[in-house]
Amino acid sequence: MNRTKTYLSKTVEELKPSGIRKFFDLAAGMEGVVSLGVGEPDFVTSWSVREAAILSLEQGRTSYTANAGLIELREEISAYMNRTFHVQYSAENEIIVTVGASQALDIALRAIIDPGDEVIVVEPSFVSYAPLVTLAGGTPVIVNSDKSHDFKVQAADLEKAVTNKTKALLICSPNNPTGTVLESEDLTAIAEFAKKHDLLVLSDEIYAELVYDKPYISMASLPGMRERTILINGFSKGFAMTGWRLGFVCAPVEISKAMLKIHQYAMMCAPTMAQYAAVEALRNGNDDVIEMRNSYRRRRNYFVQSLNEMGLDCHIPGGAFYAFPSVKSTGLSSEEFAERLLVEEKVAVVPGNAFGESGEGHIRCSYASSMAQLQEAVKRMRRFLERL
Ligand SMILES: Cc1ncc(COP(=O)(O)O)c(C=O)c1O
Repeated sequence: MNRTKTYLSKTVEELKPSGIRKFFDLAAGMEGVVSLGVGEPDFVTSWSVREAAILSLEQGRTSYTANAGLIELREEISAYMNRTFHVQYSAENEIIVTVGASQALDIALRAIIDPGDEVIVVEPSFVSYAPLVTLAGGTPVIVNSDKSHDFKVQAADLEKAVTNKTKALLICSPNNPTGTVLESEDLTAIAEFAKKHDLLVLSDEIYAELVYDKPYISMASLPGMRERTILINGFSKGFAMTGWRLGFVCAPVEISKAMLKIHQYAMMCAPTMAQYAAVEALRNGNDDVIEMRNSYRRRRNYFVQSLNEMGLDCHIPGGAFYAFPSVKSTGLSSEEFAERLLVEEKVAVVPGNAFGESGEGHIRCSYASSMAQLQEAVKRMRRFLERL
């Protein structure tokens, strides 16, 4: 055995690398690829937001901020969450500015998990959920959602997964990779389940700004849920700020205090110039958010209709920028479909099983690509399907 390997943590050694990477690496070596693979906006961050960061640098604002983030940013976040999602969090002690929603998820899980605790993870899901539970010393318990319910988790399935070790439930709406948005009745059923079993809900709402058909409902806004919800959000998706690495987490005081301990030892603070940029995004960025949302909606309508017309059955994703069509009619597995589509037609998509076993039989296509690229992808996918 390689000597260096003996030093590695067994937990880390046993983690599987993300299934998304493999396809990026394959596509990276090819020319002329139309990529529907990446999970990020195709917009550049608004100019006024970039300008605010530049100004902060010109003014020499290059030191650490408070651990929890600039107080003026937390005040803006507090006001934004109230006016947009009808949830109230104190800027003083219930909001922490983090290095992306990614770090918010990490500190939320580490703040609540003791060894052996179980966290229910609803799949198909963002690739980091189950690994982060494991890294925090917990046991992820997977509950699948399926196409027959438009990938909305069913309370009866949650009931089957709960044990006396269950501490929390991790949900995501709008969802990556399915685009599914949980509606009032879905959220209420989950909330009742959480209350019945006295569980916390980690609610990843990073795509909350990208909802196309109905007003968004935050889990924390439901009666009795604020005190048992850890709400995760950020600037990456709605504000097109992935590279700035800025997110935030809102939770009741005691949970926030615990998360802040981890954050201050592990991270100190989120990037200072990104925090100044985010203040501007929240103060003056709403028109740009609306414009981006409208643009995604147009692309969703075109792309999802095209998928269904070519015979790839796809529910209408109410949010985020992903379509998650079934490829079962082709007789190919998710991986076979994605690999052959890439090699034969140079269209990159992500096999659904990268997001959990229940994603098998589907592919994730990001429609955060130009209309011209989407049209080209549709042409190539049609040709591929006709040849099969
Ligand atoms: C559901 C979900 N949560 C969290 C993240 C991480 O976002 P951030 O860039 O804020 O770390 C992503 C990014 O793809 C995501 O899809």
